[in-house]
Amino acid sequence: MAVVTPAGAGAGPVLEFSDVVLRFAGVTAIDRVSFTVDPGELFAIIGPNGAGKTSIFNVLSGVYAPEAGSVSFLGTDIVGHKPHAIAAMGMARTFQNIELFENLTVIDNLMLGRHRHIRYGWLSAMAWLGPARTQELASRRAIEEIIDFLEIEQYRKYPVGLLPYGVQKRVELGRALAMEPRLLLLDEPVAGMNLEETEDMARFILDIREELEIPIVLVEHDMGLVMDLADRVLCLDFGKPLTTGKPSDVQQHPDVIAAYLGGGSAVDVAASDAAADDEAAGGRGEPTAGTHDRPAETKGTR
Ligand SMILES: Nc1ncnc2c1ncn2[C@@H]1O[C@H](COP(=O)(O)OP(=O)(O)OP(=O)(O)O)[C@@H](O)[C@H]1O
Ligand SMILES: [Mg+2]
Repeated sequence: MAVVTPAGAGAGPVLEFSDVVLRFAGVTAIDRVSFTVDPGELFAIIGPNGAGKTSIFNVLSGVYAPEAGSVSFLGTDIVGHKPHAIAAMGMARTFQNIELFENLTVIDNLMLGRHRHIRYGWLSAMAWLGPARTQELASRRAIEEIIDFLEIEQYRKYPVGLLPYGVQKRVELGRALAMEPRLLLLDEPVAGMNLEETEDMARFILDIREELEIPIVLVEHDMGLVMDLADRVLCLDFGKPLTTGKPSDVQQHPDVIAAYLGGGSAVDVAASDAAADDEAAGGRGEPTAGTHDRPAETKGTR
């Protein structure tokens, strides 16, 4: 797909997150966490509920400024930058709880993702002339490529709120792609999906990484997915980094096993945990095998 520019043309890391600390009253959500993401890499962040995963995304995207540490995106220090400025630099994200305009169609939601690529004045827009016409048509073409890529042609003119949950998650991914990101942050992209939807999403994530060469930071409780897709994994617990490494090593790391229930590998726990999940919901240690019920409520962890 020509619409997305491969990221990380330079030699250095796309992202450097160094010694970051973020506190909320009484809670250290991020406690001296460091990691880097290289060009083309799929970097996963795992950890039990409340470990600080979404907080890292909120620091990356400028929602919160950290108390200490530095964050460098494509060589620029982005701490203190506003979310729209960081998005304009090419950092796109999807949310743990879908954030789309339910009453707008798929096409219109995706067009909103094109915002950073549209630069024309109101006069030109009203007259549908010159730059307005050219940019709008280019955006339309880009959107159609994404619709094709994510196999959502049949839904393109429906209001998003009417679509199945798994399709809405795909549309949200599409909106992030519409930004032509240079780094993609995915916060639990398969949460609440059934097995088929999870497999579809895994295929799209792989394609984004391999065909479009966009580096990805993936937060996910579905350990099978993480083990299959990630190049490297960081495991957190209570805001602290436990270990970073290859998926197979992290999975066997004693501190990781202890953090997730204290027995078996993280994947074994995931496989045996499905039945107990409903009871455990809201508690710690919630790795899933991707067959969860849909979230009954939003957790408001943006
Ligand atoms: N806006 C906030 N105000 C106060 N505390 C917060 C806020 N956002 C997050 N926290 C706290 O910070 C900690 C980390 O939360 P975070 O949402 O980052 O966890 P998470 O790893 O994404 O968890 P989950 O897997 O449940 O999504 C938790 O203790 C949470 O309650
Ligand atoms: Mg979260």
